[in-house]
Amino acid sequence: MSDHPAITRARAFCEIFGLRIPILMAPMAGACPASLAIAVANAGGLGGCGALLMQPGAIKAWSSDVRAGTNGGFQLNLWIPDPAPKRDMAAEDSVRRFLSSWGPEVPREAGDAKPPDFDTQCEAMLEVGPAIVSSIMGLYPDHFVKRMKAKGIKWFATATTVGEATAAESAGADAIIAQGMEAGGHRGAFDATKAEARLVGLFSLLPAVVDAVKVPVVAAGGIGDGRGLAAALLLGASAVQVGTAFLRCPEAKIPRAWADAIGQTRPEDTMITRWFSGRPGRSIATSYVRATADPNVPPPAPYPVQRGLTQAMRDAAIKKNEIEGIQAWAGQSAGMARSDAAGDVVRKLWNECQALLS
Ligand SMILES: Cc1cc2nc3c(=O)[nH]c(=O)nc-3n(C[C@H](O)[C@H](O)[C@H](O)COP(=O)(O)O)c2cc1C
Repeated sequence: MSDHPAITRARAFCEIFGLRIPILMAPMAGACPASLAIAVANAGGLGGCGALLMQPGAIKAWSSDVRAGTNGGFQLNLWIPDPAPKRDMAAEDSVRRFLSSWGPEVPREAGDAKPPDFDTQCEAMLEVGPAIVSSIMGLYPDHFVKRMKAKGIKWFATATTVGEATAAESAGADAIIAQGMEAGGHRGAFDATKAEARLVGLFSLLPAVVDAVKVPVVAAGGIGDGRGLAAALLLGASAVQVGTAFLRCPEAKIPRAWADAIGQTRPEDTMITRWFSGRPGRSIATSYVRATADPNVPPPAPYPVQRGLTQAMRDAAIKKNEIEGIQAWAGQSAGMARSDAAGDVVRKLWNECQALLS
């Protein structure tokens, strides 16, 4: 067994949080079925649920399914909501016209769609009582943090800057998930208006966050093999959170076209776009995503209006299994993702990392 200080730190983290391997499955809203969490947890990592789009009943059902399949732990995760945006129907009409060349006609009321109620989702998470609850896009309110702690639930807070990490620690976070700009999916920036201007790569963000906080730091973004895991531990992380590298696993059950495209995506083939949801996220640079970057294209609507407006396009693309129009989130190391069983991916990452740090 390696006695490298980085491995010793990771083992201490595992001990505290009940893991055997310091790998967290990223909570991926819309792409985190119980099957994937069970496979990761049974291999010794931590399962994850991005509950953003789930009603309380679905959060509870997901948790019971995972508990029926594994004794391992899992995290439940929510976005911290912003106030509802101001609507601009003329601007939305321009967006609808643009979208009609990529999918079905979009009815005006599509922009009215709202995510489930945050407070009732929070109540459901408390009732489930997972080992860990995590946050992205901001911080949980103090009264909820107190109730989590009273139940013995640990709070992992996503941060994309040093400032966000120290704010999270001051608010009571038990660990920081440092999300580098390589990451697939939405940027976790607390202030969405500054997200694109504050794109920090994990090589710079991680050691700076480790130096700035006392709580353990989990590295996220672009970790696709044992080299990335070892590098993250050397830079001071206690564990890693992995998203894209699990998306081709059979247990992830994402549309075939998306899974296949991930395997062919080079680091330079992803882009950050607001054109799926209204908040910036890293996607495969499909023709749709590239077209929306044209300066002559109108700006997208804010979140969650834009998500509602693109729903029909996304649903149609999934039905046809066509990559254009699918919200094909992927991190910059997508090309490393293998279509192996998720448990094998977890074990391979850890074995490679241990060999490098022995
Ligand atoms: C499909 C997808 C959905 C995601 N949804 C969420 C989410 O709901 N909540 C969250 O905190 N992070 C979410 N993320 C970001 C991950 O937590 C993590 O930061 C990212 O996957 C790490 O980068 P990687 O994809 O390169 O491994 C998502 C990522 C992906 C790929």
